[in-house]
Amino acid sequence: MVNLNIKFCGVEFANPTVLASGILGVTASSLKNVIRNGAGGVTTKSIWLEEHKGHRNPTMFGTENYFINAVGLSDAGIEKAVTETFPEYNDGKPAPIIANIVAAKIEDFGLLAEQISQCNPDIIEVNISCPNVEDELGKPFACVSGDAAKVTSVVKKALGGLTGGEKNIPIIIKLSPNVANIGEIAKACVEAGADGFCAVNTFGPGLVVDINTRLPILANKVGGISGPGIKPLAVKCVYDVFKATGKPIVGTGGVMTGEDVIEMMMVGARLVGIGTMVYYRGAEGFRKIVSEINEWCEKNGVKNLEEIIGTVKL
Ligand SMILES: Cc1cc2nc3c(=O)[nH]c(=O)nc-3n(C[C@H](O)[C@H](O)[C@H](O)COP(=O)(O)O)c2cc1C
Repeated sequence: MVNLNIKFCGVEFANPTVLASGILGVTASSLKNVIRNGAGGVTTKSIWLEEHKGHRNPTMFGTENYFINAVGLSDAGIEKAVTETFPEYNDGKPAPIIANIVAAKIEDFGLLAEQISQCNPDIIEVNISCPNVEDELGKPFACVSGDAAKVTSVVKKALGGLTGGEKNIPIIIKLSPNVANIGEIAKACVEAGADGFCAVNTFGPGLVVDINTRLPILANKVGGISGPGIKPLAVKCVYDVFKATGKPIVGTGGVMTGEDVIEMMMVGARLVGIGTMVYYRGAEGFRKIVSEINEWCEKNGVKNLEEIIGTVKL
């Protein structure tokens, strides 16, 4: 028997797979369904203070190699999360839940963290890295270390202090891969009180053109790139953040199989975020991935998954 349990910032996960933010994570029943399909935990879609419209359709396009999306962070606002999504998820809560928050202004992250903490999420994930809302919000906070650090300290303060906080909810910062030195940004966040990271958000923005019409395929023209093609880039980002900080990381980007999960963990991920996989293998892909992890561990004499974290020979 392989032990797949993972402890992340003090929170116990039955296995390292976690639904990434923005995919199937809008209602409590869709989140619970992902757990029923084998995921170790879930992340909500990004939650705003107020309703946020997002971009016009078409917002997504995919090939066997990559996905491009410009959903544009559509959300009903925090009231719905506090009055519906969390109470429904917490009623018979099947596994840990990570609350992902997003804002246009630094101070708003503090208000969001304070309000969402009333719902007792296991972890708060701070999204400062979406690349498909630049027209609206400008360069993501995750692209400038001073801004990333400021958001981190505002959230920490809102939760009651720099060391764990009175409410004791760990906060992880969702980093952008679209920077010159992701390790430096991560270090600035740690100095400001980050407990860990989600690395990474989508790449880009990228552009896909319909050569018959000569028009961009997405209504927003550009979008963030995810899926199989980004995996080696995401793996390098996770390695860089692990090396720079040693903090717990939700390694995210292009993970499709159990072997991809193992690879992410070898470069330092404790948990592994999985999003676009669902469009290729369905929600039941989580169960298949968990059985692939088991199989690999059995074949390779790994009894406890914790053993492989950060063991890459580099
Ligand atoms: C359709 C779609 C919507 C997404 N929405 C969000 C979001 O609301 N908040 C967020 O932090 N990341 C969002 N992401 C980024 C994913 O959480 C993840 O970081 C990225 O897609 C890379 O992982 P993957 O290749 O496993 O999808 C979204 C990604 C996709 C494909």
